[in-house]
Amino acid sequence: MLLLGMIIVFGSLNMDFMISLDRLPVAGETVLSSDYQLMSGGKGGNQALAAARFGSKVALIGRVGTDNYGKTLRESLKSNGVMVSGVAYSDTLPTGCAMVAKEKSGENQIIVMSGANIETTHEQVPDEILIKQNVLLMQMELPVDQTVTLLTRAKAQGLTTILNLAPAIMIPGKALGHLDYLIVNSIEAQQIAEKLNLPTGNNAIKLAQALAIKGQMTVIVTLGMKGSVAVTKNGEGWTVPIMPLDQSEVVDITGAGDAYCGTFAAAIHEGKTLPEAMRLASVAGSLTCLKEGTQNAMPYLDDILSRLDEMPPAEKLDV
Ligand code: RIB
Repeated sequence: MLLLGMIIVFGSLNMDFMISLDRLPVAGETVLSSDYQLMSGGKGGNQALAAARFGSKVALIGRVGTDNYGKTLRESLKSNGVMVSGVAYSDTLPTGCAMVAKEKSGENQIIVMSGANIETTHEQVPDEILIKQNVLLMQMELPVDQTVTLLTRAKAQGLTTILNLAPAIMIPGKALGHLDYLIVNSIEAQQIAEKLNLPTGNNAIKLAQALAIKGQMTVIVTLGMKGSVAVTKNGEGWTVPIMPLDQSEVVDITGAGDAYCGTFAAAIHEGKTLPEAMRLASVAGSLTCLKEGTQNAMPYLDDILSRLDEMPPAEKLDV
């Protein structure tokens, strides 16, 4: 199928220090790890790569330093088919880095040192690519004011807009109204509901429903091992499980959320329905857990399609 348009990802690029630990440290504690690995990451880069491996045309807009990490991140995304001409260089700040510590139980902790990411501006996105055939995909690792301004510009031109509110940094309630899709995990959903003075609690469907009404958008809440749920502004709800995995094969869950978001954006751009896009995204998220790292672990379209039959169908929710 010939697809018009592309996915614009406005997001972060980080060099990830992947550290394996017996257990994560508590506050004030020092723990030792025998080694670490450097891997390409950043939520923007990860989601751009997931969408590109799904087969979409993807342009990433961001900023790195003039150091080796920045060059490595740009080159590796480019060699995977992501257009990086919109990834600018900072004259003063180093490339963003993240410390990704994970313990044997699978739990992880991430600290992002933003570096050049904080100099990314909405002006890096030219008006010429803000056209309605394109999808805009964003996260919350760039300055909030730049993200909100770009979102407002994009909505005015009729683009489909998707925000993965990770980390859960507040955006103005008015900006939510410019979104078509909000993707959050269950903790982020509770945090944003609280900040918006909406009813909270740990019922993901009720949280999604409250947020969907507030922002007049579709809200997807990812639930880790329990899959994901979605509620539309019209009150239609769906639930999709994760693809069943042999738990002994799971090596790293760090990239699962980014694989979900990038694949979801690509599937929506391709014209898939909401439950179809959620199923494809769920398979991508699950497959990412079978390899170390984030970008390193993103599946290709063929990998996703070859495992799609193992996914139970999406179920309609009574909301
Ligand atoms: O979602 C995982 C990503 O979060 C990592 O790649 C890290 O860089 C942070 O952005």
